[in-house]
Amino acid sequence: MLHVNLIKAADPEEVGKLAADLFEALIRTKPACVIGLATGSTPLPLYRELIAREKAGKIDFTRVRSANLDEYKGLAPDHPQSYRRFMQENLFDHISIKPENTIVPDGLAEDVQAMCEAYERKIEAWGGVDLQLLGIGHDGHIGFNEPAGHFPGMTHEVELTAMTRDANKRFFASLDEVPTAAFTMGIGTVMAAKKIVMVVTGADKHDILMKSFFGPVTPEVPASILQFHPDVTVICDAAAWGE
Ligand code: F6R
Repeated sequence: MLHVNLIKAADPEEVGKLAADLFEALIRTKPACVIGLATGSTPLPLYRELIAREKAGKIDFTRVRSANLDEYKGLAPDHPQSYRRFMQENLFDHISIKPENTIVPDGLAEDVQAMCEAYERKIEAWGGVDLQLLGIGHDGHIGFNEPAGHFPGMTHEVELTAMTRDANKRFFASLDEVPTAAFTMGIGTVMAAKKIVMVVTGADKHDILMKSFFGPVTPEVPASILQFHPDVTVICDAAAWGE
């Protein structure tokens, strides 16, 4: 391992507060910053904290730009399970970020290649991601970059593994309704972020946390590539740490 900042928090709420500290520090020093965002359960305490901090006047999202990691293929932005909708409901609708300053891959894109390239160009035009938020899947996926024989570079389409579809079925009426494909930033897109913060909570994430940061770097564990990023902070709770 080169250098990864590992911070152990007591519980998911504290993980959210510590991660919020990093976003607050960035937004206060660079009000027009670019943040990379994730969906899933783990970031929810962080999003609640960011909403509370803006309401308390500690941060201001009016000039912040955000790019989300991923979106299900085939889901419209207003679909109850789309990641765009998730972001609206859990963060964007409650803060002052401008709608035109938030991007999520277009789940309905017909020209997938053009959409993915445009997504990369937009992030580049914004000057790149200053702080990228990540969660981690039980198989080590980041975004929807699943275990594979290589590290995918840029934003692209992926088939979802049975494990990931199964993990995400809790949000759908049945497994059959979970999309079989998605669009995701690539590992290259993620690694291009200037700073990365990963949030990890729950005993069920312990094994993959250890494998990712204390095991070999391999595309079979996509998150392990983060060992090669120069500025990664992992914030985990006691359960994920193994206590
Ligand atoms: C979602 C994403 C995924 C999740 C991962 C963990 O945008 O990037 O990689 O971070 O599936 O999800 P939770 O937090 O629900 O355990």
